[in-house]
Amino acid sequence: MHAPAPIGKKLDLVHRPRRNRRTEWSRRLVRENVVTTNDLIWPIFVIEGENKRAPVASMPGVERYSIDEAAKAAAHAASLGIPAIALFPYTDPDLRDPNGSEALNDQNLVCRACRAIRAVAPDLGIITDVALDPYTSHGHDGVMEGEHILNDETVHVLVEQALNQARAGADVIAPSDMMDGRVGALREGLDANGFHHVQIMSYAAKYASAFYGPFRDAVGTNKTLIGDKRTYQMDPANTDEALHEVELDLAEGADMVMVKPGMPYLDIIRRVKDSFGRPTFAYQVSGEYAMIMAAAQNGWIDGEKAMEESLLAFKRAGCDGILTYFAVRMAEKLKERR
Ligand code: PBG
Repeated sequence: MHAPAPIGKKLDLVHRPRRNRRTEWSRRLVRENVVTTNDLIWPIFVIEGENKRAPVASMPGVERYSIDEAAKAAAHAASLGIPAIALFPYTDPDLRDPNGSEALNDQNLVCRACRAIRAVAPDLGIITDVALDPYTSHGHDGVMEGEHILNDETVHVLVEQALNQARAGADVIAPSDMMDGRVGALREGLDANGFHHVQIMSYAAKYASAFYGPFRDAVGTNKTLIGDKRTYQMDPANTDEALHEVELDLAEGADMVMVKPGMPYLDIIRRVKDSFGRPTFAYQVSGEYAMIMAAAQNGWIDGEKAMEESLLAFKRAGCDGILTYFAVRMAEKLKERR
């Protein structure tokens, strides 16, 4: 090698961080964070019908499954070692009403899916979403009076919804509605009905975000939603408020807390983890998935690498796990690597 022409001061370095990066074995040795299959939670969209799969246009690679197909998909996820799945229904528009009463039907999509999945994957964690938006004709997460989303009245219905899900075999109740006091009410309701073992993963810091768009396509609430959710979901400008929300949910009995969306809110995840040191999750939401997939499909980024890098970012920020539409793809990739 030729000695380079000296530019300014002669380099005489003791510290050369590049030394550790020179070889693959060394990079592996000093690696601080890893994504494993144990970190992944896979959201699944459920539709009516049999033997049916319906793509979500704004989420390339994501399909909505009829219950039989959802059971197969869940069994596949379990066989890959994914610890848990999260269920979201596309409710028939005819079944949506102002009070979201279909949420309380023990034959609704989510309850039937719980039972079907339990039958084929007994050891898979099943997480169910507690919120009324897939069931309401106005698309809001709660019951309304005029233009207002009523807090306490909604919490009352959410407890009934959670009990309906627990009876169907849900392992984890995940309230995503952002009503005040719902975690405490859910814990009390579950315990009073013998569901002491059912865990609560609260969407503790959930922001009023533009990144939920494709999800709302998938569950059909983009069409129904009147107005926006800023009176209950958090202002994207706030951080301290997120800590307050998490503190309340933990005090009310949340077993696990979540920050949502994910990538634009890594700072919140870090502060939550540092402040409370409790099981902390992030939801890499539909819009984040859509951005990566859209860029990848255009050949603008390497989708596989961007997927992994994005998931690693959550681990770096302090997450114990990630809800992600990439869960199956990532788990497959980790399996190939072994
Ligand atoms: C609704 C709910 C939403 C998501 C999960 N549960 C959307 C919303 O609040 O409107 C979003 C998930 C995603 O975008 O992937 N309770």
